[in-house]
Amino acid sequence: MLNMILFGPPGSGKGTQSSRIACRYNLVHLSTGEMFRQEVRRGSGYGEELASYMNKGHLVPDQLVIRKLYRAALANMKGPGLVFDGFPRTLHQARILDQLMTRFETQVHIVICLMVEEDELFSRMMGRAEDSGREDDNTHTMRRRLEIYHQQTKPLKEYYRQQKKISFVSGMAPVKDVSARIAKVVEYYRQKKEILQSLTEDEIS
Ligand code: AP5
Repeated sequence: MLNMILFGPPGSGKGTQSSRIACRYNLVHLSTGEMFRQEVRRGSGYGEELASYMNKGHLVPDQLVIRKLYRAALANMKGPGLVFDGFPRTLHQARILDQLMTRFETQVHIVICLMVEEDELFSRMMGRAEDSGREDDNTHTMRRRLEIYHQQTKPLKEYYRQQKKISFVSGMAPVKDVSARIAKVVEYYRQKKEILQSLTEDEIS
């Protein structure tokens, strides 16, 4: 299995790049934002509850996120791997994800942090607002989403830095160039893994 997280501020290209990576490496793309929007469109009570947080640019409470994500991930734990897009967003979510991975004797292998300048984030979001139909694509909510990213999600960088899993990739380039940068990180990881697997235990020690 190859499990990856695409991490970064709102509008940094997580969704765009996750679907390209998933396609390139035959992985399953799990986007919590997209799962929630589907639920909102369905008009269920759960959807209404989600919308009440999302439309204000707030994070959905952990217990609602984890319930949804866990189900989607469980259905795919025997597959070739997962690309998490927009999850985890809090330390609690990151710990829960680690527990899930351990339960299936696997782990998060690669965390890609997309770096994009703030002006560019706003310009991308405003560009998308014209036809996305997303209630949270407006300047006011975007500011709130960005604040919350800095307060609650950015600390995860340290969590994954300590695990030596995070790679920083500039997202300030055309989509295909950013994809090529991410692919380089994946290839580097795969080569390292192959070399380690080819070494005997004596050679490693
Ligand atoms: P979510 O859908 O995850 O929104 P987000 O993190 O704010 O990110 P976006 O989808 O807005 O942007 P992105 O980084 O995916 O960029 P994209 O590829 O779309 O979450 C929405 C809400 O759900 C949250 O605010 C929260 O309420 C809730 N939620 C979700 N997950 C949660 C969790 N785990 N815990 C709690 N709450 C949660 O690109 C943006 C635009 O830029 C597009 O128009 C795209 O075409 C364009 N673009 C992309 N790359 C480039 C490029 N290289 N050059 C030029 N344009 C580009």
